[in-house]
Amino acid sequence: MTQPAHFQPHPDLGELRYEGKAKRVYATADPAVYIVEYKDDATAFNGVKKAQIGGKGAINNAITAAIYPQLEAAGIPTHFIEKLSEREQRVKAVEIVPVEVIVRNVAAGSFSKRLNIEEGTPLPRPVVEYCYKSDALGDPLINTDTAVSLGWATETELARIRELALQVRDFLTPFFLARGIKLIDFKLEFGKLADGSIVLADEISPDTCRFWDAETNEKMDKDRFRRDLGGVEDAYAEMLKRVTQGV
Ligand SMILES: Nc1ncnc2c1ncn2[C@@H]1O[C@H](COP(=O)(O)OP(=O)(O)OP(=O)(O)O)[C@@H](O)[C@H]1O
Ligand SMILES: [Mg+2]
Repeated sequence: MTQPAHFQPHPDLGELRYEGKAKRVYATADPAVYIVEYKDDATAFNGVKKAQIGGKGAINNAITAAIYPQLEAAGIPTHFIEKLSEREQRVKAVEIVPVEVIVRNVAAGSFSKRLNIEEGTPLPRPVVEYCYKSDALGDPLINTDTAVSLGWATETELARIRELALQVRDFLTPFFLARGIKLIDFKLEFGKLADGSIVLADEISPDTCRFWDAETNEKMDKDRFRRDLGGVEDAYAEMLKRVTQGV
């Protein structure tokens, strides 16, 4: 187990439903509710590079728990219910749509590589990309026709997902800029509730976003781990401070 000895699981925790690279998902007595536990484990390059980032689970839990209610208040439905403990949050159980949604404000990462566009080049309008959520295949880039054809989501669902992803971008970009952070790009996951409606699921954290300091362009996210830049823990802690201490 990766938890420190003092970690006490929440009494509502039921059976482990899923263990991913960064989180565990547990059932509860209510089939409509899951508990998500955030781990310190970090992976990159589809699991090839692995390590622990001290404090990451608590930080990503806290950042997500601070942001999701504000997205809700801005009219974006999410799976978030409440933060339960340092590492745990209660969420609505969803059927995850197996399509990862990437929204880009500025060229970076795989986009820069694929298209030979220098990292840091601003994009005149946001770009939404889709990947098939498959560790075995390394989350390959797809388009929405592929997702519809292979039955991963309907055209209506994908239109809603795109609309919500852009709303998240419209909320988060000025939110972070007010805190001295450029939101370069980010990855979202969406899920379906029992009534079929689409909600934002998973997390928003330095694991899933690229954050650059607005003054210095210093990277404040998982690229510090991916690229061996050092100062990973400090960058995550600084992001939590900026998110929760406000402008
Ligand atoms: N509300 C929810 N209901 C059900 N599953 C969820 C919910 N929110 C997130 N998940 C899923 O829980 C898992 C979270 O674990 P983690 O982030 O560690 O996964 P991962 O290693 O990134 O792997 P994966 O490729 O499966 O996402 C993900 O598969 C995510 O899709
Ligand atoms: Mg994940």
